[in-house]
Amino acid sequence: MRSIFNVAAVLLGLTSTLVTASPVARSSFPNDGFPNPSADQLKGIEQKALGTLPNGNPPNNISADGLINLRLIALNELFEVAYFNDLLNNVTNNVMGYEFKNKKNRDFVIKSLTAVLAQEELHAVNANNALKHFNTDQIQPCKYTFPVSDFQSAIRLAGTFTSLVLGTLQEVIEIFAAKGDAPLTTGVASVVGQEGEQEGWYRLIQGKVPSELPFLTTSTREFAFNALLQTVIVPGSCPNLKAINLTTFGGPLKLLTNVEAKTEPIRFSFEKPSYGYDKFKLAYINQQNVPIVEDIKVKSTDGSTVTIEANFPYDANEMNGLTIAALVKSAGPFKNAQAVADATAFGPALIIIN
Ligand SMILES: *[C@@H]1O[C@H](CO)[C@@H](O)[C@H](O)[C@H]1NC(C)=O
Ligand SMILES: *[C@@H]1O[C@H](CO)[C@@H](O)[C@H](O)[C@H]1NC(C)=O
Ligand SMILES: *[C@@H]1O[C@H](CO)[C@@H](O)[C@H](O)[C@H]1NC(C)=O
Repeated sequence: MRSIFNVAAVLLGLTSTLVTASPVARSSFPNDGFPNPSADQLKGIEQKALGTLPNGNPPNNISADGLINLRLIALNELFEVAYFNDLLNNVTNNVMGYEFKNKKNRDFVIKSLTAVLAQEELHAVNANNALKHFNTDQIQPCKYTFPVSDFQSAIRLAGTFTSLVLGTLQEVIEIFAAKGDAPLTTGVASVVGQEGEQEGWYRLIQGKVPSELPFLTTSTREFAFNALLQTVIVPGSCPNLKAINLTTFGGPLKLLTNVEAKTEPIRFSFEKPSYGYDKFKLAYINQQNVPIVEDIKVKSTDGSTVTIEANFPYDANEMNGLTIAALVKSAGPFKNAQAVADATAFGPALIIIN
């Protein structure tokens, strides 16, 4: 089915039939006025978040691209609030797959998720408040579907989308800086660190070294936007998606291989487009390095599903942490992640090694 979803499935060794059976549309937010809390409700959220919304004024002006940054952040944070609310409810209510034997562990998870949830609520409110300040529509919540049904897989998925966000916010900061929105960079940089702290915890729970890489993988707004649309947002459920002027790719690139820390051919599939795809290449974005381009081999075409193979050049590139794979329409060379996004036909597929 979908990419983040596939990463979770592959990491868990689940079959895709098992995972596709579960999604139920969920849109529930905490019962505290979110996404439009009153002043009193906001105080309660801040107490749970262990801190406050920034109380200085945003700048008076913003670029058109800067508005797209804020809208994408709001779209993503609204999803994250729904996700962590659902996860916290599952643990609190001892839902099957979310039970803990050890009371101390359970208490710590509930305490930490309570803070994360409220912190994500403030991230969303902050982005939407900024949109209001700039006299433009706030982003409305969508309906969501969560392709997980146990604690470990839920934490892996949280780690995966947080990795992608950590990459995307790098580009958001660069765009703010380039377009005359420098005063907006500081707050986003503070959130990069905040999400990095979360990521370290999600990694620890998975038995991974908390710090993923020396330089985290970069991403672009398009990869984050398409990953949300392909994996967790119920199609057609967003009231004002059109305000987010970012390219929608041709569709998902499904990862079929349980990728390991070694150089080997790996497989992906995608839905056959109406145009030719024989010139397509596979691009990988990893760390702060120049994108890697590999040839593809079509292995089979089954109905409308095309299965391809491409080399995963792990050894030559120490490809740990997040790798973003995209099926691109040209051979490059691509100077950066944005150049890959601009050429992407299908994707992103997300691979996380170590
Ligand atoms: C906003 O205004 C400041 C000060 O006049 C200016 O330096 C900056 O370039 C403006 N930014 C945008 C995005 O117009
Ligand atoms: C919570 O549990 C339900 C029932 O198993 C599941 O469908 C849902 O995806 C879970 N949510 C999260 C975020 O783990
Ligand atoms: C959307 O983005 C495209 C490409 O950057 C641009 O040409 C167009 O003017 C934008 N439209 C709006 C409404 O901002």
